[in-house]
Amino acid sequence: MHSIQMVKRRVEVDDDWRDLRALWQIRPDTTYLNHGSFGLSPQPVRAARLDWLQKCDQQPMDFYVRQLEPALWRSRQAIARLVGTMPEHLVLTENATSAMNVVADSFPLKSGDEILLNDHEYGAVHRIWNRRALETGARVVNCRLPLPIESADQVVDALADATTVRTRLLVISHITSPTAIIMPLDEITRRFQSLGIPICVDGPHALAQVDVRIDASGWDFYTASCHKWLCAPLGTGFLYVHPRWQEHIRWPIQSWGRLLPALPERWDQQFTWTGTRDASGYLALADAVEFMERVGIDVFRDRCCWLARQFEQRLIERTGRLPLAPLEGQWYGTMCHVPLKPGDWSTLQDALWRREGIEVPIVHFDDRWFVRVSCHLYNTTDQIDCLLSALPR
Ligand SMILES: Cc1ncc(COP(=O)(O)O)c(C=O)c1O
Repeated sequence: MHSIQMVKRRVEVDDDWRDLRALWQIRPDTTYLNHGSFGLSPQPVRAARLDWLQKCDQQPMDFYVRQLEPALWRSRQAIARLVGTMPEHLVLTENATSAMNVVADSFPLKSGDEILLNDHEYGAVHRIWNRRALETGARVVNCRLPLPIESADQVVDALADATTVRTRLLVISHITSPTAIIMPLDEITRRFQSLGIPICVDGPHALAQVDVRIDASGWDFYTASCHKWLCAPLGTGFLYVHPRWQEHIRWPIQSWGRLLPALPERWDQQFTWTGTRDASGYLALADAVEFMERVGIDVFRDRCCWLARQFEQRLIERTGRLPLAPLEGQWYGTMCHVPLKPGDWSTLQDALWRREGIEVPIVHFDDRWFVRVSCHLYNTTDQIDCLLSALPR
């Protein structure tokens, strides 16, 4: 593993982060402000992945038959440690999308049942549950959260008001995609557990951005992508299932489950062998966790939240508009999300890339346009001026 200097780094001094920045290889023509959609891996993680790929290419029989299972277990142990659960309770999936599909396809539903989502949920997650609802006669209830968001109680009350005796499951983002808001999950969890409604947390943005404590929270399902803030290789995620649901879980790709001569005996083992595939990303997941822990998850958060707040402040000064949730408190992490002035900004994202080489999502939500900036260890303060000078006045 590449050595990381153990020095005190000041959040506001770009130079203090130079050695870490050098571990990312971003195309020189690009200012990358979208780690939240597609994260990039640092050099030690890319090297670990290539190493596994080479092991497989050079002796596939040895790789699949003898090395794969223990190496998968190593990654499951690493990610389970990070999110506060046992490796037996989670399986690796390619991304949060496939994990959410498994939950939707496995969750027992019948005609008239309701699944509660809200208008900040990821579009594909709405599609996944709408399809399942069509198949079963269940109904997706899309709760519209009040805007602007003012308090945790206000969010919890809106969600609780949208429940009925038929509500079977709450599906809720840990950090929302179109609005970058850290949901008040502790409060939501307490209320929904007291109502006896199971909770499925959609967590791709949460890993590394915030503490994830699955066992302590008692959630029923947790779906995540590790290729965002955790910087694992693209195509890595996981599905956590509380023991009370594990017997219901069905992976749609039926294969051997484990590598012969073994056959699956526990729920999670059906995910070990899902057909012959490139497993190098999964195996380098352990190295991504190790990398972020060596940097220090708190060190990462301090720097990147600080940077996100600088972007936020300067964008607010420019647009004169405030984000959808309070600036103080725990509503935003390493992303900022600021409304643009009224207008049609549907072509701005593409224009910023073509004219200025800036990759930043311009998001449409609630009939308005927003700029969503992601900050990771390779981003710098001079990119704030770069974005501001590129935005139309
Ligand atoms: C809240 C949320 N859920 C699900 C997803 C889907 O993640 P993936 O494409 O890695 O499966 C995303 C992607 O940005 C997301 O933000």
